[in-house]
Amino acid sequence: MSQEEVIANGSGFHINRGERRLEGKVALITGAVGGIGEVIARLFVHHGAKLILADISDEGGRKLSETLGQPGVATYVHCDVSNDQHMQAAVDLAVTMHGHLDIMYSNAGIIDRSCGNKAADYDMEEFDRIMSVNVRGTMAAIKHAARVMIPRKKGCIVCTASIAGITGALASYAYTASKHAVLGLVKNAAGELGKHGIRVNSVSPYGVATAMSVGTMKSLQNKLNMESFCDSMANLKGQTLKAEDVAEAGLFLASDEAKYVSGHNLVIDGGFTVVNHSWLMYR
Ligand SMILES: NC(=O)c1ccc[n+]([C@@H]2O[C@H](COP(=O)([O-])OP(=O)(O)OC[C@H]3O[C@@H](n4cnc5c(N)ncnc54)[C@H](O)[C@@H]3O)[C@@H](O)[C@H]2O)c1
Repeated sequence: MSQEEVIANGSGFHINRGERRLEGKVALITGAVGGIGEVIARLFVHHGAKLILADISDEGGRKLSETLGQPGVATYVHCDVSNDQHMQAAVDLAVTMHGHLDIMYSNAGIIDRSCGNKAADYDMEEFDRIMSVNVRGTMAAIKHAARVMIPRKKGCIVCTASIAGITGALASYAYTASKHAVLGLVKNAAGELGKHGIRVNSVSPYGVATAMSVGTMKSLQNKLNMESFCDSMANLKGQTLKAEDVAEAGLFLASDEAKYVSGHNLVIDGGFTVVNHSWLMYR
């Protein structure tokens, strides 16, 4: 069997189960230098994609691009997603270098420095800062992806939301509101861009131990603490959610295997958001 093995049955059902599910595709990943984004970048290169790594972490970005392969496989660009011109330039770089953009993966996101913020003393500047990266940044990614994808009548956009976009009281006001807003942007974009052949979806992970999540609570100052905390609160036992699991879900949505999936929020939470945990305590 070749790497591009195609499983087909008599009804014309073709699924590419090959190892290189993004061969020939060009993807731009925001927030690609750390945490979940870095793992997405490594997985996408493994599957044959050419990448633009858009981030504000310049030194890490340049190092990552070198480790991902020959020059041109993964190119780092400084891009603050909340800056419309930065986002425009990053997308234009993808088109200049590779001729087109197939996948926009809007993954960059930030969380409040203090997740314990109470409404009565909420820092409104902090609120604006979170919204500017998580919501404005997602909109800018969708905007500039649409700009170059519409003329080609194809493309795919994946946005990282969160279980905090579905459920309240898991994170701060700003983060919760921002992730609810991301889901709204995805729905609108799926609605507008469907007629141009462009799919728009989101992934919503449960807690993953990354630089962002470790340290959001004073008692969870390292990765192992974060993972065991998440495991203890999880619905699905016997597994620990890793960035790799989130990246695999993103890969599915970005690949042609999901060619009729649009407007979908793929929740990666082991069932956490569909059960009532208070009731479960009494079973
Ligand atoms: N870690 C979790 O538990 C978790 C759970 C659900 C959703 N998420 C979401 O997953 C995404 C990635 O989170 P993570 O945990 O990997 O975070 P992380 O902090 O480990 O990595 C975030 C990356 O985004 C970059 N970044 C930050 N601000 C940026 C900006 N303005 N412009 C461009 N890049 C910027 C950072 O430099 C970093 O490389 C975020 O959208 C986050 O909200 C994370």
